[in-house]
Amino acid sequence: MTNILEITDLVLSYGAAAAVRGVTMHVAEGEVVTLIGANGAGKSTTLKGVVGLVKPVSGSIRFAGDVTTTRRTDWLARHGLNLVPEGRRVFAALTVAENLDVAASASNLHGAALKAKIREIYEIFPRLEERRDSLSWTLSGGEQQMLAMGRALIAQPRLLLLDEPSLGLSPKLATEVVQLISRYSRDHGLSVLLVEQNARLALSASDRGYVMETGRIVAEGPAAELQDNKEVRRAYLGS
Ligand SMILES: Nc1ncnc2c1ncn2[C@@H]1O[C@H](COP(=O)(O)OP(=O)(O)O)[C@@H](O)[C@H]1O
Ligand SMILES: [Mg+2]
Repeated sequence: MTNILEITDLVLSYGAAAAVRGVTMHVAEGEVVTLIGANGAGKSTTLKGVVGLVKPVSGSIRFAGDVTTTRRTDWLARHGLNLVPEGRRVFAALTVAENLDVAASASNLHGAALKAKIREIYEIFPRLEERRDSLSWTLSGGEQQMLAMGRALIAQPRLLLLDEPSLGLSPKLATEVVQLISRYSRDHGLSVLLVEQNARLALSASDRGYVMETGRIVAEGPAAELQDNKEVRRAYLGS
């Protein structure tokens, strides 16, 4: 299997403070990979590094075989590498449909193909269609998360990076959102790198996982193995 993402010895810092201290990891085509770890471990910084929002001090990042470090975030987004940041950024003053239109205008989709894509998004998230004419600030947290993911899917990602999609959601909605991601990946061959604090939920929906502590990867493996790993259970699964 080829790797859609390959990160090697990546070091990222904010000024003098290193947040990511030599991370090596990969995502194969079609895989759902989760990155778990405590608050402040460096998970979000890793994702920001991948999309060029934080420039590497050293190390390399390859997306679909190409080095990304000279690419801008918007170029990467147009070429299939998309991040849904923490805190589901949607345009609060626009309706659901308008939010999707804005995403569409930044994508390569037009005419019938665009219509079909929007239809597909409403099929995945029926709740969004019910609320298509609602202003986005009136949406619940879960609905805003769905809208943020819908916007990202319009960009037709090859690799979707999701930063804590279940944050602030009820356990039921969190499960639903994470399962939707996993099912979408299976049905469409989308590769996903999922950052989650809810390790149990993330591992249940992933093929493989990495555990991050203070900027380093301290454990990795198939999701089922990590779920059985004593250290991981103690530190992240509350058992
Ligand atoms: N914009 C920033 N400026 C300075 N330090 C930051 C910034 N963002 C994050 N950090 C620091 O980098 C480290 C990793 O943060 P982050 O990647 O957000 O962790 P996580 O997503 O795992 O909670 C933390 O020590 C955090 O305080
Ligand atoms: Mg974070």
